[in-house]
Amino acid sequence: MSDIPALSNRIYRTTRAAFYEYGSDVPPPGALSDTQLDVEQDLRGGSQILLAVLSESGRVAGVVRWRVQKGQLRFHRLAVIPSERRKGVASALLRGLIDEANANGCTSIACDVRLGVSRNVALYEKFGFVHTGERMITRGGFTVHLGVMTLSLGSATMGIGKGK
Ligand SMILES: CC(C)(COP(=O)(O)OP(=O)(O)OC[C@H]1O[C@@H](n2cnc3c(N)ncnc32)[C@H](O)[C@@H]1OP(=O)(O)O)[C@@H](O)C(=O)NCCC(=O)NCCS
Repeated sequence: MSDIPALSNRIYRTTRAAFYEYGSDVPPPGALSDTQLDVEQDLRGGSQILLAVLSESGRVAGVVRWRVQKGQLRFHRLAVIPSERRKGVASALLRGLIDEANANGCTSIACDVRLGVSRNVALYEKFGFVHTGERMITRGGFTVHLGVMTLSLGSATMGIGKGK
């Protein structure tokens, strides 16, 4: 990965702009307490990224982080800036993840999702993800209930630029 601090800054700003709307949630999402250094450490620790960049301005419209664990591609922090939503950016990133999963010999793709956010569930269901489990995590003294959504491969495809 080329310039990790500069790349981390772009990822940090894009993710923060996207998750800003959850700022009044109790507790707020981990994406909002992440610092740029956390993003940098995530990348140095093995997370990879896909970026969706606007061709005219060079601005990052969306980003997602991912890594392969035991034959499964796990992704997190899927984020699209508010001004570029409902234009297929997240869909393009998901298709990019499917390409990466296939290239890495994965049999499935999974992510955590707040089951109460129907827009996010709708996005994943559109790609064939199904609800496969639930997880409880502790954040800031609160227990957060997350759903796990999984796509078994062999059911979808596409591609987008890598941010490295
Ligand atoms: C969720 C998010 C990534 C969607 O990004 P996006 O680029 O707008 O999504 P797309 O344009 O690719 O939409 C694909 C599908 O998702 C669903 N969807 C997306 N936004 C929706 C909305 N506001 N209401 C209902 N369905 C929605 C629809 O099924 C949509 O297909 P359609 O446009 O053909 O109806 C974006 O809203 C975001 O960054 N939200 C804040 C961060 C977040 O919640 N990330 C997800 C973490 S699990």
